[in-house]
Amino acid sequence: MPDLQRIGVFTSGGDAPGMNACIRAVVRRAVAEGLEVIGIRRGYAGMCDGDFVEMDRQSVSNILQTGGTILKSARCDAFRTPEGRARAAENLRAAGIDALVAIGGDGTLQGATHLAAEHDVPVVGVPGTIDNDLFGTDETIGFDTALNTALESIDKIRDTADAHDRLFLVEVMGRDTGFIALACGIGGGAELVLIPEMLSDVDAIKERILSLMSSQSRSSIVVVAEGDELGGAHMIAGALRDDPAFDRIDTRVSVLGHIQRGGSPTARDRVLASRLGSAAVEALLEGHAGVMVGIVNSDIKLTPMRNVWSRKKDIDYDLLQLTALLS
Ligand code: F6P
Repeated sequence: MPDLQRIGVFTSGGDAPGMNACIRAVVRRAVAEGLEVIGIRRGYAGMCDGDFVEMDRQSVSNILQTGGTILKSARCDAFRTPEGRARAAENLRAAGIDALVAIGGDGTLQGATHLAAEHDVPVVGVPGTIDNDLFGTDETIGFDTALNTALESIDKIRDTADAHDRLFLVEVMGRDTGFIALACGIGGGAELVLIPEMLSDVDAIKERILSLMSSQSRSSIVVVAEGDELGGAHMIAGALRDDPAFDRIDTRVSVLGHIQRGGSPTARDRVLASRLGSAAVEALLEGHAGVMVGIVNSDIKLTPMRNVWSRKKDIDYDLLQLTALLS
């Protein structure tokens, strides 16, 4: 058992709904175990600057239901360098921080892996990103909320698309992955889903849309992940408009953007965040380090942090098939 007295907790990278619920769980579980907790503000940027704040049970009251992150987040270039990480490690030592809970996505966990390797800091990671693209967990904190936000928008777009017999290209977040797009596509009844994991062929897209819009449906929704290889919804709309066959199809683009990152977390995200935050503290107390806590088949599972960002989590190709079958 490690001799832990004081742990640090931080959020980093793109914020995700449920991060506050996770911070709350980390702080309350740690305090219940007799540990002191230091909040590190602005992720790795705050670690490099020594922007630390003491936390207790009270400091995490009333945040469970809120979006964003009370500890704030940042993307930090300095931490990508060995010098930046050395400065961060020095600040941690000076503050008496024995171990860390890192809440974030692949960039966050990659940074934590390097910090741990170079400066022997025990770190347990928690998957927090709307993208749901981390190996080692079935779901990441924020995914369910983002998905429901996007879906609500798609339902509304469907109304107006139908009223005008229009084709809508709806762009959702996912720079490198199509988890949100795919789930939105199924849930929103999209006619087509375009994701970075699959090559997108403009001619095949045109053919599919033309055949759908000339036969059963006169309005269509195509969900496009922002990282699709054709360059996103505006680029695809441009390619369609350049084709005379699309002259008769009234096409619109809607980019949902950062609205997907905000808002009150769903019940599912709150439960996930609470479980994972508590499990992270438990893992540190049991002497684990260099691992991420995840949920696999409803159970808590620890995965070496390096695997989390170096291995790719596969999308469910059956779901992609299903979109085509059901549209
Ligand atoms: O990592 C989550 C994410 O929301 C991606 O889906 C998106 O591409 C990116 O963050 C946007 O980042 P930023 O807010 O820095 O522009």
